[in-house]
Amino acid sequence: MTTAIDILILRALFSNPSRYVSGEDLATQAGVSRAAIWKHLDQLQKIGYPIEAQPHQGYRLLAPPDVWCADEIAARLPDPAPGEPNWRVLLFQETASTNDLVWREAQNGAQEGLVIIAEQQSSGRGRQGRQWQSCAKSGLYASALLRPHWPLSQITRLTIVSSLAVAEAVEKLCGKEVRIKWPNDVFMRGKKLGGILTEVQADPEAIRFAVVGIGLNVSQTKSDFPDALHAIATSLKIETGHDYRRADLLIAILGTMQRHYREPFEVVRQAWSERCFSLGQTISVRTPAGQLVGQAVGLDENGALLLRAESGRITPITAGDILPA
Ligand code: BTN
Repeated sequence: MTTAIDILILRALFSNPSRYVSGEDLATQAGVSRAAIWKHLDQLQKIGYPIEAQPHQGYRLLAPPDVWCADEIAARLPDPAPGEPNWRVLLFQETASTNDLVWREAQNGAQEGLVIIAEQQSSGRGRQGRQWQSCAKSGLYASALLRPHWPLSQITRLTIVSSLAVAEAVEKLCGKEVRIKWPNDVFMRGKKLGGILTEVQADPEAIRFAVVGIGLNVSQTKSDFPDALHAIATSLKIETGHDYRRADLLIAILGTMQRHYREPFEVVRQAWSERCFSLGQTISVRTPAGQLVGQAVGLDENGALLLRAESGRITPITAGDILPA
């Protein structure tokens, strides 16, 4: 449940790290009594925020653990620039798939910027109908609603924008290189750390809405992954040895995504291409039209992968899977 007072308190506490915030100031800003503020602080403490109260000084937030709370994300997201999505976050403790929830809201007319996050998913899914392991607390599961006024031919741009945003945000927070495997896999040290599932409803020409689902492995240990995934999947915990807060990660991802979404695609294409390790390689791609082999030479203006066959012929590919070499 989102409350404006919780958002106001969390914004004040997070923007004054380890400093005291006066209860009286909070009460004045919120237009409520100090006792009411105290009740909200008490609730925030109960959900896991370590808030210290000091007579005559006020309240301060100590290093917070991984509390997954929509109000905190709302409190800390940067304001959107004109034309950027205005993110509004809703949390579900458990759902089948956050993509399904956002899809339903989109069909009911929800505005661009809705983000649904979950603690766990019972039927999390990845691309090509694959399952996405979505246990409680260990991963970040989020889906965002976008309504780009783009022709349908440019839908792949959204996956490019989103995978770049995830890679840049994670690298900035963790200080370790994050790379991208076409079209949407986020990799750290040669293993998959996360992925994007973009689902779209469109008229023959125009996109009506798109749901961008983001899955990121955060605190899984090796034994949390099935044996078959040990060689190919990883988490931030495994790679860095550190615990990360999902809220910090999501705020960084949404902030970066907001910016890239409205940027000229040429800027995004350049940054994405520098991170994508599939480019320059000779690859086999399974596409809806069959298997193709060639050298991945770049992205076109729609975000499609350009594959050059031995004959020199270049084919743009909008969907597919790179097969293991
Ligand atoms: C992939 O790499 O194949 C994409 C994985 C996407 C997983 C996320 S988790 C949040 C959202 N809900 C889902 O069911 N899937 C996406």
